[in-house]
Amino acid sequence: MALKLGDKINLTIHDLAFGGEGVGRVEELVVFVPFVITGETVEVEITELKKNFARAKLLRVLTPSPERVTPECRYFGACGGCQYQHLDYAAQLQMKHKQIADLFERIGKISRAVVAPVIGCPQPYGYRNRIMIRSQWNGPAKRLEIGFIRTDNKFVESIEECKIAEPALNAQIQHVRANPPPKGGIKVVLRVQPENWEVPRDSFFQNNFFLLPKLVETVREFLTAGGARHLIDLYCGVGFFGIEAAGVVDSFVGVEYDRLAIAAARQNAAARKINNGEFIAAPVEDVLPELLKKFSAEKTAVLLDPPRKGCWPATLELLRQTRPAQVIYVSCHPATMARDLNLLCADGVFELARVQPLDMFPQTQHVECVADLRRRN
Ligand SMILES: C[S@@+](CC[C@H](N)C(=O)[O-])C[C@H]1O[C@@H](n2cnc3c(N)ncnc32)[C@H](O)[C@@H]1O
Repeated sequence: MALKLGDKINLTIHDLAFGGEGVGRVEELVVFVPFVITGETVEVEITELKKNFARAKLLRVLTPSPERVTPECRYFGACGGCQYQHLDYAAQLQMKHKQIADLFERIGKISRAVVAPVIGCPQPYGYRNRIMIRSQWNGPAKRLEIGFIRTDNKFVESIEECKIAEPALNAQIQHVRANPPPKGGIKVVLRVQPENWEVPRDSFFQNNFFLLPKLVETVREFLTAGGARHLIDLYCGVGFFGIEAAGVVDSFVGVEYDRLAIAAARQNAAARKINNGEFIAAPVEDVLPELLKKFSAEKTAVLLDPPRKGCWPATLELLRQTRPAQVIYVSCHPATMARDLNLLCADGVFELARVQPLDMFPQTQHVECVADLRRRN
């Protein structure tokens, strides 16, 4: 059957790919369609046709999954922020586990057996402490749209509230709407400051306070099990992991290129009377060679929490050559993480003991993972 753009067809969904799209098949052609669930039969309209795959929009669910639930947000499907509000939360966790295990197997050549079940968020709505509101002039309608980028990635969908954001941010959205920026194209970051942490306006902080204790517990548990005495906390932001783990090591050093974040890290450590650590304002690439010489490799753990693009190959190569006893890799991007873990483990230099996923981003395609790598003797 030769498909054409605009064709309306019935499709059975047999998987949910990482990113949230359901996967169906028409003979040899893979068809991706959002907002569906594995096992469902749906009516879709073909919107994009390529040689090996097609994209379609959902028209109707013909046989709904028992895991289908009513989304809490009225903008779900139009706003590009959430992908899974139609899926029961327990099922979201199982589905994310499968997606991570699939990705790690395919990209990282990693056994799926090391991936632990996903730890869920106690608050699957109203959890985000940071959002970015955009404004865009809508010429045809002659009005300023204030909200989030739409699912189709082109225009701003006006929103009055965001169901995954903390209530305090929803109050701020109302304020932005009542005092709109003068012209389109403006981005406004709204944020709830964490209690007891100094965070400069443009510096990074974990964006879900509700699951943060579990994230810290996981890192501490991995670190304690590895037995290292020194911690090198790379991409340390305002010192979060180094400070939280200061009690389980003799000394630590945090590295971060955001100078204001490093100034805040020093204040955060001082406020807690933590004095077994230091913070360096520099790119990781510039200081890591010297730092790794400073501590004995057998007693050192290196924590990596890079941006979404992952680590530089040279940084990973340096770790392979110097072979610290443990590498703890924290990431919100499982695909780049799988790529980097594959490099670290190549030729049996490091061994991946465990991956702990945590659902820091309920209702969305994103998920946080912490990996525990040990050097092989
Ligand atoms: C995902 S955040 C992690 C921050 C911190 N670990 C936390 O949990 O709050 C990544 C951080 O890496 C920093 N960063 C990115 N590239 C860097 C580099 N090449 N050298 C040093 N820091 C870098 C960013 O400024 C950001 O603060």
